[in-house]
This record gives sequence, structure tokens and C-alpha cells, in this order.
Amino acid sequence: MSGMERQTSTEKLAFVSMLSGELQEVPEHARLGKCRGVTDFEKLSRVGEGTYGIVYKARDIRSDATVALKKMRMEREKDGIPISGLREIDILLNLRHDNIVELREVAVGKSLDSIFLVMDYCEQDLASLLDNMSAPFSEAQVKCIMIQVLKGLRYMHENFIVHRDLKVSNLLMTDKGSVKIADFGLARKYGLPLKPMTPRVVTLWYRAPELLLGTKEQTVAIDMWSVGCIFGELLAHRPLLPGRSDIHQIELIIEMFGTPSEAIWPGFDELPVLENISLKKQPYNNLKHMFSWLTDAGIRLLNFLFMYDPLKRASAEDSLDSSYFKEQPYPCDPELMPTFPQHRLKRKAAPGEKSEERKQKRNSGSFQDFGNTSSAKKKKV
Ligand SMILES: Nc1ncnc2c1ncn2[C@@H]1O[C@H](COP(=O)(O)OP(=O)(O)O)[C@@H](O)[C@H]1O
Ligand SMILES: [Mg+2]
Repeated sequence: MSGMERQTSTEKLAFVSMLSGELQEVPEHARLGKCRGVTDFEKLSRVGEGTYGIVYKARDIRSDATVALKKMRMEREKDGIPISGLREIDILLNLRHDNIVELREVAVGKSLDSIFLVMDYCEQDLASLLDNMSAPFSEAQVKCIMIQVLKGLRYMHENFIVHRDLKVSNLLMTDKGSVKIADFGLARKYGLPLKPMTPRVVTLWYRAPELLLGTKEQTVAIDMWSVGCIFGELLAHRPLLPGRSDIHQIELIIEMFGTPSEAIWPGFDELPVLENISLKKQPYNNLKHMFSWLTDAGIRLLNFLFMYDPLKRASAEDSLDSSYFKEQPYPCDPELMPTFPQHRLKRKAAPGEKSEERKQKRNSGSFQDFGNTSSAKKKKV
């Protein structure tokens, strides 16, 4: 059958046949193609709602497996599946690694207006864990988490995928202590020569300085900056650079690492946003001051991840080679990670209000919420 696809008012899928000119309904058995219907899954609870979709814990009725169902947001789409969703499916189907969330299949809703990603279910995400833990992760546990994130990233970057939204809420953990990178809604395949990509990516608190300053060249180094922020957050038990706006974010970065310059970052003077703002002079790196208890190897790794020049910044491979992971306290075995109660499934009372607040702030740091700094008047930061 050939012809124009359209949805009838009764939500039935039909085609106008180019041969007969008549409306032909697609029979039920032919509608789902290779995708199973979502009625094959029993929804158990709602576990998360982010920028692009709602996520449910569900049971696969056929296999009895517990899975996560991520419903793709379609509201703003009139012409089919949103491109971010297609990218997420395409990229995830091509990535197979212990530290990357596994996309098992794609399921469709009955009226074909909804699509669900069926993933392995992970009991925790690191954001809700951090918000609800009474004691911080031990350093051995931080090392265990970081090594897993870095292994997943090394594999991703070797496959020319840049994630572009790494943050604690996009890192999942199973009850076996296995950490999985998730949420590939903003991920992209890149190649040489580098093609310009939209600079409005990566949630603000985890956004690399080159993006804040308007670079058009995005490399895997933007993920590595985010990894530095995650590492700092796990160690400090609070977000490292919680900016309230693009400008404030740049300000916090400069307060922590000093003012960048052409000398340490060739190409810096040409960054577009610098036409509109001039940066405050701050000569000190305050990382050592903030993490006074951390060993030299730990400080070195943090500083390597926070190199201003993206070309000098640590890669996932460099980071895995760091002596920090080879010295005491040694990384704990994932199997020996403690299991945590599943906080996100229950609503907490009073102390939880704080965590809700933090969560809201985390979400409000989303790249979509901020205007364009380049249109700002030349401002002192
Ligand atoms: N496979 C999964 N298992 C368990 N929970 C998940 C899974 N995938 C996502 N979640 C939960 O849903 C939240 C939102 O999912 P995510 O993929 O990050 O979508 P969004 O693009 O909407 O941020 C996550 O922060 C996490 O809490
Ligand atoms: Mg997310």
C-alpha cells in the first residue's frame, strides 16, 4: 500500500490509497509492526519526570521482568516523533555497555500517538540518592561510582557519542551497585570536521565554560567538565557550582578556578560571549581550599577535569589512569555498595521539603530555561 498516512478523528490509523483514492484502515495485527504494545506491560509506579518524558516502573507481563518505561513526550509535535526521541532510540540501540542503561525495546501505545522506551529498571538515580542519604558517600564509594561512569563514557566517546547532559539525575544505580549512564535525549553523534551544534545544552550547573562562552565547537570535553562537577558533588555532598543564571554560572566558575586567559586557553579571546561581557580578575584556584582533606592525586584529577582549555581537559581514558583510583582508600567493589532505600518512590515529610526544593532547582537549571547571554549588554562578571 502506498499513500499518505493520516490519523482519523476516531484515532484509527488509515491511509489514503494512491491507487484507489480510498481511505484504508490499517488492521490491528499490522499496526504494531515489530513493536509490542504497551498493554504488554503493567505499570507499577511513576518514578520520574524529566524534561522529555515520564518514567514508570513496570512489569513485563510476558517475561515477568521489572522494567522502566519512558514515555516520550509528543505534545509539542504535530508531525510525528520528536527528533530528540528518535536520536535517543537510535543512539541507545547502538550502545551496549555495562555502564550504559540498556534499551530493551520500543513499545507503542494503542492509538500510536505514544511511544515508550523499555529499559532495564534501575532502583536509584544519584540525584534522589544524594538528596536523601543521611551520610555522604565514602571516598571508596565515590571512586567506585566514578570508575563506572568513566568506563561508560570512555565507551561512548570511543563510539563518537557525546552525551551533552551528564548530571547526577541522569546517572542510575541498580541494587547491585552497578552505575548506568541514562537519558540520551540530548546525545549526538559527532564526526570530523566538527559541525556546529546548539550551545544551549547541558544543565547549567554542569555546563562547561566553552559552552557558556558561546563556542560553536562541541567536543567530548563538555562531558568531561560535567564529570568533574559530578565528582565534586559526590565528594562535597552538594552541587559544586550551583549557578542561578548563565552569568552567575560563569561567576562561580571563576571564583573556583580563577579567570581564564588566552595564555592558558588558546582561542579564549575569540569566544563570542566575551564581546558582551568582561570577566572579573580572580587569580586563585580555590579547589584545594574547598577540598582540603583530599589527597594530591584527587586534587590533580579534579583540576585535570576542570581544565579551561577543552583540548587539555582530561579524557575518560586519562581519568581512569589517574593514580587517585590506585591509592587508598581503594575503590569499593560495586557488589559491596550498600543498598539504599528507594527514596524516590515515597514522598517524604518535613525534611523532604528541602530535597524537593533542591530537585526543583536542579530541574530549573535545565538548558531550556535560560535566555541568550550573547544578547546581554557588555557586563562585568
Ligand atoms: N531505566 C530506568 N530505571 C529507573 N529509573 C529511571 C530509568 N530511566 C529513567 N529513570 C528515572 O526517571 C528520571 C527521568 O528520566 P530521564 O531518562 O532522565 O528523562 P528526562 O529526559 O525526562 O530527564 C530519571 O532521573 C530517573 O529517576
Ligand atoms: Mg534526565
